[in-house]
Amino acid sequence: MSDHNQVKITTMDYSKDRPAAENPVKIQDLTLRDGHQSLFATRGRTEDMIPVAEKMDEVGFWAVETWGGATFDTMHRFLNEDPWERLRTLKRYMTKTPFSMLLRAQNLVGYRNYADDVARAFVERTCENGMDIFRTFDALNDYRNFETVVRVIKECGKHFQGCICYSMTEPRLGGEVYDIDYYVNKAKDLETMGADSICLKDMAGLIAPYDAYEIIKALKAAVKPPIHLHSHFTSGMSPMSHLKAIEAGVDIIDTCMSPYAYRTSHAAVEPLVMTLLGTNRDTGLDIKQLAEINEILEKKVMPKYKHLLDDSKVSVIDISVLLHQTPGGMLSNLVNQLKEMDALHKIDEVYKELPRVRKELGQIPLVTPTSQIVGIQTVNNVLFDDEKERYKMITGQVKDLCFGLYGKTAIPIDPEVQKKALDGYERGEEPITCRPAEILEPELEPAQKDTEGLAQDLDDVILYALFPVTGKRFLKWKYGKEDPPPEVRARTLEQIKEEEDLVKLAKLGRLVKKVEKKGPPKTDALRTFNVFVDDEYFEVGVEEPGGSPMISYVQQMPAGVPVSAPAPVSPAAAPAPAPSKLAAPAAPAPAPSKPAAPAAPAPAPPKPAAPSAPAPADVEGTPLKAPMPGMIVKYSKQVGDAVSKGDTVVILEAMKMENALQAPADGTVKAINFSSGDSVAKDDVLCVIG
Ligand code: CO
Repeated sequence: MSDHNQVKITTMDYSKDRPAAENPVKIQDLTLRDGHQSLFATRGRTEDMIPVAEKMDEVGFWAVETWGGATFDTMHRFLNEDPWERLRTLKRYMTKTPFSMLLRAQNLVGYRNYADDVARAFVERTCENGMDIFRTFDALNDYRNFETVVRVIKECGKHFQGCICYSMTEPRLGGEVYDIDYYVNKAKDLETMGADSICLKDMAGLIAPYDAYEIIKALKAAVKPPIHLHSHFTSGMSPMSHLKAIEAGVDIIDTCMSPYAYRTSHAAVEPLVMTLLGTNRDTGLDIKQLAEINEILEKKVMPKYKHLLDDSKVSVIDISVLLHQTPGGMLSNLVNQLKEMDALHKIDEVYKELPRVRKELGQIPLVTPTSQIVGIQTVNNVLFDDEKERYKMITGQVKDLCFGLYGKTAIPIDPEVQKKALDGYERGEEPITCRPAEILEPELEPAQKDTEGLAQDLDDVILYALFPVTGKRFLKWKYGKEDPPPEVRARTLEQIKEEEDLVKLAKLGRLVKKVEKKGPPKTDALRTFNVFVDDEYFEVGVEEPGGSPMISYVQQMPAGVPVSAPAPVSPAAAPAPAPSKLAAPAAPAPAPSKPAAPAAPAPAPPKPAAPSAPAPADVEGTPLKAPMPGMIVKYSKQVGDAVSKGDTVVILEAMKMENALQAPADGTVKAINFSSGDSVAKDDVLCVIG
């Protein structure tokens, strides 16, 4: 078959000869966004991107993805970093390579459709702060949700990349909804909208190599804009799919630098560079230059994040994706959610319920946020439904979806499910058919009012408009009105080293840590004691500067390890150990060794961990308990309010889905035990109705 796109191999001396390829495959690097989002929960910090930024700018990537997706949320929520600042900072180090971001269309970088005024302001400010390419997708592939943002992207003269979310209902291409015509028609829609390029976005690594070939071939024949393939490695197929897509004429491929590659991330760039070397589709990238960047990432950056990598499995691929045609990230969320609720044994029921719920909710693609919407509802059904009644606890997001707030589903939603979801729904019981944002009231001005005296500029206001609870908390940290908690601080390489050393010692059964406080100089009064801990021997020096003896060096053992301690020492006189830098998981602050001497007074009981509000014992009534762990979004009722059974009392966010919790009885709200933004555990008493 003679074919313009066919990959041609030439014979040459590669050490001397590397002519520019006729039609090079362009590479977009995802390390600084999707790479760390996939492998370590988007926890990558700006300070760890700077060491490679200038070198990556020299490589010759078509673009580098640096922003969007979950970065905006994670940065202000967990890293105490201003997302806007990252964009400006990286832009100072990377001046040549275009920046790309993942934009969730009208969902922007959040999990619901925002009003048009917020969407417009967000895209304008993003352009202003340095973004060049807007990879835009809608979870339902409903391009009416593109209208507002695309207009602004075009007005600002930036690159609009339109995405088609890859989805399937059968193990291979074809079956209900997602056949080749579906993708071709979507691409034509995007071309009509003015797409500068079109991306087939396979967020779960579902696309099989020969299906990739068929689709890319069909897209290349049907539309003019360059075609870009985004396929996660998760299932193990993506390097093969890349190659078949290249044979079919794909223009741009997404990869990661190798330390950030594979598992749920993307195939690495280096093998692809070598695969295409010398062909008419040679990337032209220099593998030695890539190796230098890898070295920095491997040695200076990755050690800080190793603890976040999922090392629970040896296998780097997840065949459950092949078995269930479901995004791996979604599956691991489901597993985590079931674990938190002590219901992991119900996982098979969840797998069975999932396709049913998806079909009932309109056979929608599974991508953020629809994967969570379908996933959490499935878990709720498995946990709370019984034979008599399905959809007993419907999340707020499923109600929104049934109302049409996310857009048009691929097939109509099951009418019975829709009716139940919209029963008493605050926006109305009749679903809408218009572009969702048309019914949303402007949100920017209210956000401006809410943040008066706190927000300093429009970027701050937008941050708050997108994430009211965590956004406000971040702005308080940013402007010094509240101290950020220690867990949002960065870890240093020194800390990592110290922890690794401790782990090594612990593995050898010799976890011994000295107090980091400088003791007074030793005097003649120093007396030496021999201390035996099981078979181990320690020498302990003790001296009496004033009245009571004082330990000049002590050992700390991990909590729970019974040790015989140096005697005779009064614990009251022992110097308090410096707070350990070791974040011992689950263990309380390391306590000094418990004295074995019966005469010694018992150490003060440890303080209770989190000051979680306990249920006041003296309030009588029916408690409303948290059915799952989560964060309080808001209480809809106040103390003293009369409620009827079934009224919404509190909105609880769990796994990013909002759950309206209802009054378990008629009565009056007697006590409210938490407030907006508080984290709660399963079965915490949220309020009492009496
Ligand atoms: Co992705």
